[in-house]
Amino acid sequence: MNVNGIHYQAVFWKNSPLAEGEVCWIDQCALPTLFRIKSSRDPEVVAQAIESMEVRGAPSIGAFAALGLALAAQQDWDRVESYWLARFRRTRPTAVNLFHACDAMQQAYQKAKHKRDMVDAAENYCAAEVARNKQIGGYLAEVLAVGERRILTHCNAGWLAAVDWGTALSGIYHLQQAGETPFVWVDETRPRLQGARLTAWELHQQGIACQIQADSAAAWMIASGKVDAIVVGADRIARNGDVANKIGTYGLSLAAKAHGIPMYVAAPESTFDTACPTGKDIPIEQRADDEVLIAAGPDEQGIVQHIHISASGVGANNPAFDVTPYANLTGIISERGLWQP
Ligand code: MRU
Repeated sequence: MNVNGIHYQAVFWKNSPLAEGEVCWIDQCALPTLFRIKSSRDPEVVAQAIESMEVRGAPSIGAFAALGLALAAQQDWDRVESYWLARFRRTRPTAVNLFHACDAMQQAYQKAKHKRDMVDAAENYCAAEVARNKQIGGYLAEVLAVGERRILTHCNAGWLAAVDWGTALSGIYHLQQAGETPFVWVDETRPRLQGARLTAWELHQQGIACQIQADSAAAWMIASGKVDAIVVGADRIARNGDVANKIGTYGLSLAAKAHGIPMYVAAPESTFDTACPTGKDIPIEQRADDEVLIAAGPDEQGIVQHIHISASGVGANNPAFDVTPYANLTGIISERGLWQP
C-alpha cells in the first residue's frame, strides 16, 4: 500500500550489486512519528527486530523470518539448520505464521543447490502471502458490502502486519477501491497501541475515515448501535476454529454476540495450525511488565522515550493474546472464502 503516494511493503529483500543483498523493513516502533526503513545483512539483527516488534503482525513476522533465513543462508550456510532455524523459531511464540515460514524455508534449504535459491524461496514466500491477503480482502469486502460500513477493528491487521494489503484491513481497502466509503472505529489496543499508532496511520495514509477510541469504549459503542461489523486478524487458528488474536479480541466477541453484531476474523492459510486441536493448546505470549507500566513512544527525532505511568514497585500482568471460541464468530475469511461455525 501507499505512504505519501509511494508504494511500499512492510518487509522486502533488496539486491545490491556489490554484496549479497540485504533485508529491509519498515520500523514499526518508530511509527507514526517517523517513517523509517531499516536494513541489515546480519540475520541476528533480523531476529532481534522480531523480538523488539520493529516488525510485528503474524504474516509479516513469517515473511520477515523467511527473509532472515535467506540472509543466514548467504552469510552462514552451514548453520542454517543447526542454528538459525531454531534462533528464528524462538523469537515469538503465538503467531504460527513464524513456524509456517521456518518450515517452508527448511524445505527450501534441503532442496537448494545455490545460496541464491534461498533468496528466491523467501521472495516467493512473501509474494504468496501478499496474494493470499489480497484475495482475503476481496471476500471480506463482499460480506462487508451488505450495509456493514461502520467497522470496528482491534490491533493492526493491515499491510504493516501482512507485508502488503493486510488481512482485516484488506477488506476495507477493497471496499474503498470499489467506490465505497467505509468508516473505521480503531481500538487503540493497549498496551503497545498498535491500533492508535499503526492502524490509524495506515487508514489515514489511504484516505479512509477513522477515529481512535480507548479499548474500553468498544463494548459501549457496540451496545449503542454505532458499530455495524467487527473485523480482526488472527495469530493462530486451531483445528476447531478457535482464534488467538491480540488481547481484547475475546471481549469484543462477547459484546458482538450479546448485541447481534457480525464479527469476522480474516487470516491466510499460514495462520491455520492444523496440528493444534483447540484454542486451549495455543501458546499465549506473556510480555514484559514494562509494556503496561511505561508509556513508550518516539520523540520528534524518532528516539524512543519512556514515561512511567504507575507507582514504582507495582507489578503488571501482560498477556499479549487471547483466544476467541469459534462459536462467538460470524465467520473466518481465508483466501478460500468464508468459513462459518
Ligand atoms: O503482538 P502483535 O502486534 O504482533 O500482534 C498482532 C495481532 O494480534 C494482529 O491482530 C494479528 O497478527 C493479525 S495480523 C494481520
